[in-house]
Amino acid sequence: MPRLGDLDFNRRDLMVGASAVATLAAMPARAGATAADADVPVLAKVAFTVNGQRRELELDTRTSLLDAAREHLHLTGSKKGCDHGQCGACTMIVDGRRINACLTLAVMHQGSTITTIEGLGRPDDLHPMQAAFIKHDGYQCGYCTPGQICSGVAVLDEIKAGIPSHVTADLNAAAAVTEDEIRERMSGNICRCGAYSNIVSAMTEVAGRRA
Ligand code: FES
Ligand code: FES
Repeated sequence: MPRLGDLDFNRRDLMVGASAVATLAAMPARAGATAADADVPVLAKVAFTVNGQRRELELDTRTSLLDAAREHLHLTGSKKGCDHGQCGACTMIVDGRRINACLTLAVMHQGSTITTIEGLGRPDDLHPMQAAFIKHDGYQCGYCTPGQICSGVAVLDEIKAGIPSHVTADLNAAAAVTEDEIRERMSGNICRCGAYSNIVSAMTEVAGRRA
């Protein structure tokens, strides 16, 4: 029958041995995976509804939703400003919520309903938010504008649904479309031309129409 000291020795040996085996096994696998990953993209099929149309794509699984729209569906209205989730130029509405399309993988949206700026309205039939941006001069170069408009539409829906923001003072009262609320909720949409005041005016008018 083994003594207690023998058991301790054997347990330590077993742990050291297991660690060494695990390390040796992992090293060649990691080196091989790096070369393979760089050379051979992993493809996957994804299907979603974009601006009312069902679209099916086979994509490198690393493709962002923004690149899927711009490079594969040729919907270039959504802009790539930073590609890091910091500017809001790529904002789309996905399943009723605004999203930074540069920060999400296309293959994560199987079955989703996606609206880009192209799906909100057409030149001869503008969405009220698009018309208000024109009326109130809510842009200059226009680069941020598709994201601003998609975000603006979603923000008014958020307020209407009673979703509070960081500046909502009374969580028990009905949410109101105030300038503070608009500025806070739109703070993720950067405009390098500084059209913020006119964007607030446009959104306020659309909110008034909705009320
Ligand atoms: Fe997506 Fe800037 S491009 S947040
Ligand atoms: Fe030029 Fe906003 S209108 S960045």
